Amino acid sequence: METIDLRSDTVTLPTPTMREAISNAELGDDVFGEDPTTIRLEKMAAERMGKEAAMLVVSGTMGNLVCVLTHCRRGDEVILGDRSHTFLYEAGGMSAVGGIHPHTIVNQPDGTMQLEEIEAAIRGDNVHFPRTRLICMENTHNRCSGSALSVDYMKDVAGLAKQRNLLVHLDGARIFNAAAALQVDVKELTCYADSVSFCLSKGLSAPVGSVICGTKWFIAEARRNRKVLGGGMRQCGIIAAAGITALNEMVDRIADDHANAQRLAQGIARIPGLSIEPEMVQTNIVYFDIVSREIKAGELLNQLGNKGIKILLLGPSRFRAVTHYGINVEDIDFTLEALGEIMKL
Ligand SMILES: Cc1ncc(COP(=O)(O)O)c(C=O)c1O
Repeated sequence: METIDLRSDTVTLPTPTMREAISNAELGDDVFGEDPTTIRLEKMAAERMGKEAAMLVVSGTMGNLVCVLTHCRRGDEVILGDRSHTFLYEAGGMSAVGGIHPHTIVNQPDGTMQLEEIEAAIRGDNVHFPRTRLICMENTHNRCSGSALSVDYMKDVAGLAKQRNLLVHLDGARIFNAAAALQVDVKELTCYADSVSFCLSKGLSAPVGSVICGTKWFIAEARRNRKVLGGGMRQCGIIAAAGITALNEMVDRIADDHANAQRLAQGIARIPGLSIEPEMVQTNIVYFDIVSREIKAGELLNQLGNKGIKILLLGPSRFRAVTHYGINVEDIDFTLEALGEIMKL
């Protein structure tokens, strides 16, 4: 039985050209600054993001942590959304490793934080308070329906940060999804952040890796912090090679994932016992709820599993399905048919 794995875009497997690039990659010791393929990826990534420099890291989690550690000192405070990936799912790294204090603001359903609330959270100069140093944004916003934060919103947050002498970090794990949804060049979003972390291993389908981008000075400092975390990777050109292919070949097809997600959302909206707001689905992430009294969430999950379909259960009644390179229109239609059959039981 074939599996349709909609749990996450992290389940994507490398494409045939990536595998070829991996096996042919020119390699050296990157901790000595001698891995030509990694150097090539970092140059390419910096150019794509409109920044001076870039550095390959193991994961999005490491990318965000290295950036926060580089911007902040112990005792500093970071303003971020209460549904942000960094706050919810990165094992409290900023406080565990960096002694850095997270200050959460409510994330609105569209992934934004209200400007007035950000402003109110900025600390005054008082010996009792931690020092506010950084504002983190997430675009697209994973837990907020995969929504794309607009250029204007990012500009407003950056304006506030500048006015109050703060720095901005962008968790752009899926920044190419945001750019595709908003139909803008990715630089129109990244220009409002002092540092950006984006993932190669999600919608872009590379097997491993994320890249952080910023000024030359910032990346030089970040390199030390990556080393502290054990992230010096020696012949990481085998990872970078897939990343180069990802940037060359996988960005333009992201719109297909968004169309498939929308098809899934529209179909779910027609199935009795399931609840969804299809207009909230702007990118490749689809959240929906089961509202049926007859069928429990766990039962739906099991029945889908019996048909080879995997989705995530993220609460008593809430599911997440994510479209990606490994999912085509037929898979979406098969999933909708399966959901329809199960809900009719
Ligand atoms: C928005 C966001 N940021 C960061 C990450 C972390 O990436 P990784 O799983 O590579 O550590 C994820 C992972 O899903 C994510 O969705």
